[in-house]
Amino acid sequence: MTIIVTGGAGFIGSNFIFYMLREHPEDRIVCLDKLTYAGNLSTLAPVLEHPNFRFVRMDICDRDGVYGLFEEERPDLVINFAAESHVDRSIEDPSVFLQTNIIGTSVLMDACRKYGGVRFHQVSTDEVYGDLPLDRPDLFFTEETPICTSSPYSSSKAGADLLVHAYQRTYGLPTTISRCSNNYGPYQFPEKLIPLMIHNCLQEKPLPVYGQGLNVRDWLYVEDHCRAVDLVVRKGGIGQVYNIGGHNEMRNIDIVRLIVHELGRSEELITYVTDRKGHDLRYAIDPAKIHAELGWLPETRFADGIRRTIRWYLEHRDWWEPIITGEYTQYYEKMYGNR
Ligand code: NAD
Ligand code: DAU
Repeated sequence: MTIIVTGGAGFIGSNFIFYMLREHPEDRIVCLDKLTYAGNLSTLAPVLEHPNFRFVRMDICDRDGVYGLFEEERPDLVINFAAESHVDRSIEDPSVFLQTNIIGTSVLMDACRKYGGVRFHQVSTDEVYGDLPLDRPDLFFTEETPICTSSPYSSSKAGADLLVHAYQRTYGLPTTISRCSNNYGPYQFPEKLIPLMIHNCLQEKPLPVYGQGLNVRDWLYVEDHCRAVDLVVRKGGIGQVYNIGGHNEMRNIDIVRLIVHELGRSEELITYVTDRKGHDLRYAIDPAKIHAELGWLPETRFADGIRRTIRWYLEHRDWWEPIITGEYTQYYEKMYGNR
């Protein structure tokens, strides 16, 4: 198979490319990525010379470019990881989220139609379901939970999901959607909770916890997500949605304390700051469908995965230090300077 993986220079996409080249040496992977602030070509350095791999710098909204690439590569499958992915940035400026996450997804699906029913997989998020109350631990997101978004980011992802549904129904495009909970692991951009707390801790900088730190996220090791997407694109039912999550709910403050202790720093670094606008309270996935239909279960326990992740950041300062000294400095000042 020839598989176009969009957004492969980002966090989950790069982990997915490493996974696929290792697990499916018979497949050819073409990575299409615009290299926005969140994309990093150095992440893909170990595979750039791989005979079954090609990197193309391109915007998924560039219709002519995308059609040209499809003409050249004639892919069997497209997996769309490309997105603007950070909720806080979407609150500052939604426009690029609408452009990439909605328009970009439609361009990719138009190309799939034009070149003959190419299978299309949309990597979506549990955030399309909105949030769950903190005092109802019995409630979980299922694939039937209504879409009810809170942020411009999640709304743009929900818009894309609806378009995928429409393309399947209207044009018969062979599509699938997966909605995963929060990922953690190597190569996550330093603006997200876990890497941000790790590198701030290492620099003895304040650890900015939004509100009271009581919001709950359902954490999954990135490789478990990659394995689930691989299963969905090979064995998932056309037109189906699959939730992905490992029943691993944690309060933000507990994650931050765990990182502080692992790195041998003081809890005095923890600083409570103004809450995120519209902050979702709790995410929790019911993964029964993907387990029953495709046999997927997470393999990495949080206690192991988080230690592995912290060690990775300790051993790969050469990856994240150049990032946090560039444009990120202004971003950090704008978001956290007066918070
Ligand atoms: P990321 O921000 O780390 O990476 C996004 C990648 O997409 C970058 O390489 C960037 O250069 C590329 N990109 C952005 N705009 C583009 C465009 N217009 N054209 C081409 N490439 C473009 O994101 P991530 O955390 O790896 O998330 C990947 C996908 O998974 C996203 O669709 C996100 O919504 C979804 N998701 C993420 C999580 C999570 O916890 N990180 C959980 C569930 C779902
Ligand atoms: O649930 C899946 C989603 O998970 C993905 O769709 C998104 O792309 C991904 O970014 C992530 O969204 P979150 O908003 O949950 O992740 P983030 O790392 O930004 O924040 C996690 C929690 O930590 C959230 O409750 C906000 C809080 N937080 C975050 C940051 C960056 C803080 O308290 N302080 C911070 O500095």
